[in-house]
Amino acid sequence: MYIEDIPERPTQAQLRLLRAHLPYSLPVLRRLQVAAGAFDGINSAGTVGSGTSSYAHILFAYDSDDLPSDVDGDHVPFAAAFLDLHKTPETAAWIYASDQDHALPPVVAEDLYAADNDRPEGWVVDRGAELVAAWSPERRARCRRLVLALLRRTRAIAHAVAPVLAAQLPARFGIPSNAVAFVKNVKANVHDGIRYVLQHPGPAEEDADPSAVTLSYYDAYDKWLFRFEDVPVLSQPEDTEYATGLSGKDGQGQPSLVWDSVRTREDVALVISRTAIPRTEETLLSVPSVALREKSTTPGEEGTLQAWAFVGVDGSLWTLHAEPAYRGRGVAKTLAARLFRQYCGVFDTTVDDSEGSNDCSEKGDGWCAADVSASNRQSQGVCKRLGAKRAWSTAWIVVTYDSLGEDE
Ligand SMILES: CC(C)(COP(=O)(O)OP(=O)(O)OC[C@H]1O[C@@H](n2cnc3c(N)ncnc32)[C@H](O)[C@@H]1OP(=O)(O)O)[C@@H](O)C(=O)NCCC(=O)NCCS
Repeated sequence: MYIEDIPERPTQAQLRLLRAHLPYSLPVLRRLQVAAGAFDGINSAGTVGSGTSSYAHILFAYDSDDLPSDVDGDHVPFAAAFLDLHKTPETAAWIYASDQDHALPPVVAEDLYAADNDRPEGWVVDRGAELVAAWSPERRARCRRLVLALLRRTRAIAHAVAPVLAAQLPARFGIPSNAVAFVKNVKANVHDGIRYVLQHPGPAEEDADPSAVTLSYYDAYDKWLFRFEDVPVLSQPEDTEYATGLSGKDGQGQPSLVWDSVRTREDVALVISRTAIPRTEETLLSVPSVALREKSTTPGEEGTLQAWAFVGVDGSLWTLHAEPAYRGRGVAKTLAARLFRQYCGVFDTTVDDSEGSNDCSEKGDGWCAADVSASNRQSQGVCKRLGAKRAWSTAWIVVTYDSLGEDE
């Protein structure tokens, strides 16, 4: 096995390799494109370089003795990760393994699962188990080996930087910042099949590495994939207002909301107050957003945000929200469609493509995504209305370093 460990920003070869594995590689590809500067100057803070940090590592593990020379052609199996431990307790790592490609059953129905979370008898609870059911023992063992190698490297990096991180970072979300916490575990986003194989080593004759990883994980999430061309045009880029169809406070007229972005500290405080997912002000201002704001009637004062959505650091739809008074009127789908159409093309600008297949248009490679809880019907409804397909399951896992075992 060969491990490549690159600081802060990905190489062009790494970006091209991941692009050859779309759509399966999408979360890690997007995270690396953001590290490479996809959001520079277009995020709310107008900053450059905030997609990465001096703590970031781009890790690739190849199933070969050396760095493969032609990563653009036939490639050896590999796993890839973006790691930034200074984001803790936000997600610190995104992991992809080429073995997860084609993990989907043949597309015979619109969805991977039989029903929308009504949990009928026979409902697939462990989606990861189902996703890897058809994998050969060799494929499971190889996937585990490659991902375990990345997690062990992550552990080594955590040990090296923990004292510095603990000294520099404040306590966040009620979690103290101390060196002990940084060397205990890591929060990562993975395909749910990878989560499953990490927890379930094969028998010794098939899987040389017996480490059954100890991890906790959150509610099942589905990865919904959108194609740019399927996302309807529900507002025009030049529109400045959105007619809600509701009556005004005086019972007259139709109050409009104003198109804007999440850009002030007050805006961010409101967003944070409406979500249980830990995200810092710094992170939310480092990514692009689209928002709808009340029209202010007081000169010099801004109206309050009523709906918002962000493009997350992994390119997915983040924190889609409409205040209760505005729900059920098409606000969320219009907002999400506007966000995708406006920002889908920004990622490919980071890939230098001498063969000219990089189209650098508003569409880019055309992929957009959302992670939606299996129990969130409203959000599933929004995704369906925007032409998305439920593709695979994804998991946020907190991996206990002590359970990882040692490298061969
Ligand atoms: C999810 C949320 C953003 C939807 O906002 P909204 O403005 O009411 O959604 P829209 O009116 O644009 O609805 C779009 C589609 O979703 C579906 N939908 C909306 N609410 C639904 C509900 N309660 N049940 C089932 N489907 C629903 C409908 O199919 C609708 O399409 P249609 O109007 O063409 O029939 C809103 O309910 C919300 O803020 N919820 C709390 C935060 C949240 O869960 N965010 C998502 C995190 S991933």
